[in-house]
Amino acid sequence: MSTPTSPAVKPLAVEELITPQGIPTPVPSNRPIIITIDGPAGTGKSTVARTLAARLGLDFLDTGAMYRAAAAIMIDKEYKEDQIGELVSEVIGADLHFDWSQDPPTILAWDTPIDHRIRSHEVTDAVSFVATLSELRQHMVRKQRIIFAQHPHLVTEGRDQGSVVFPDAAVKFYLDADPEIRARRRIDQLGLDPETMSLETMCKRIVERDRIDSSRDDGPLVCPDDAIRVDTSALGIEAVVDLMAKHTMALVADLPEHDL
Ligand code: DC
Repeated sequence: MSTPTSPAVKPLAVEELITPQGIPTPVPSNRPIIITIDGPAGTGKSTVARTLAARLGLDFLDTGAMYRAAAAIMIDKEYKEDQIGELVSEVIGADLHFDWSQDPPTILAWDTPIDHRIRSHEVTDAVSFVATLSELRQHMVRKQRIIFAQHPHLVTEGRDQGSVVFPDAAVKFYLDADPEIRARRRIDQLGLDPETMSLETMCKRIVERDRIDSSRDDGPLVCPDDAIRVDTSALGIEAVVDLMAKHTMALVADLPEHDL
């Protein structure tokens, strides 16, 4: 495994995206197929994963939403950082699951939608801690594997999908981008005022979050050796999805491309 922080990598041409080992025998699409997308925040991972899934007619799983939901539960139920056992039991009892009739699928706890809660600042601040809890991660890994059993044509995105949860995935991607570019995207995405949130501060936060994500013992953010690494610093979403779709179709036989 290599570390997630890469030197600025020039965008790859489609031909170069085929793994150095050559083109493996395509897997037929009538059997279960999973595509994993991992990488740090601000690389466009979620949008890319959702768009790729739609284009290839696959379901889309946002595993970050599951960790965010656990963080929201921790805040709402006022668990402290030393009440890990109680928190994990609460999250298990909440039976986190998705409403697959929505696009993108929305997350529910205790059968109640909590999507509106999980992108708040306080949840974003708390989730790094929650994501370090091994007991909780093991529960999430089990849930994610069950979701795949129920949705056997899946694009899943997170931090550990190709490395821990689905090590045998048919296609693995790792998205990366320059921290400053990720910081700028985040400021734009959240509509923040550059007066109150400078690029420098956001960049520091992003680097710190990467450090926490990649240094935890369980399920750290790493680039699996067999993943295709794509640097999105200089690429728009469409260009990234085009590259990934072409690569996926080279590896997975009979995947119909859908018009969007
Ligand atoms: O992708 P995101 O920002 O929604 O992820 C929220 C947090 O959850 C982030 O701190 C990383 C963590 N996470 C994780 O540890 N493992 C995953 N598979 C997905 C997200």
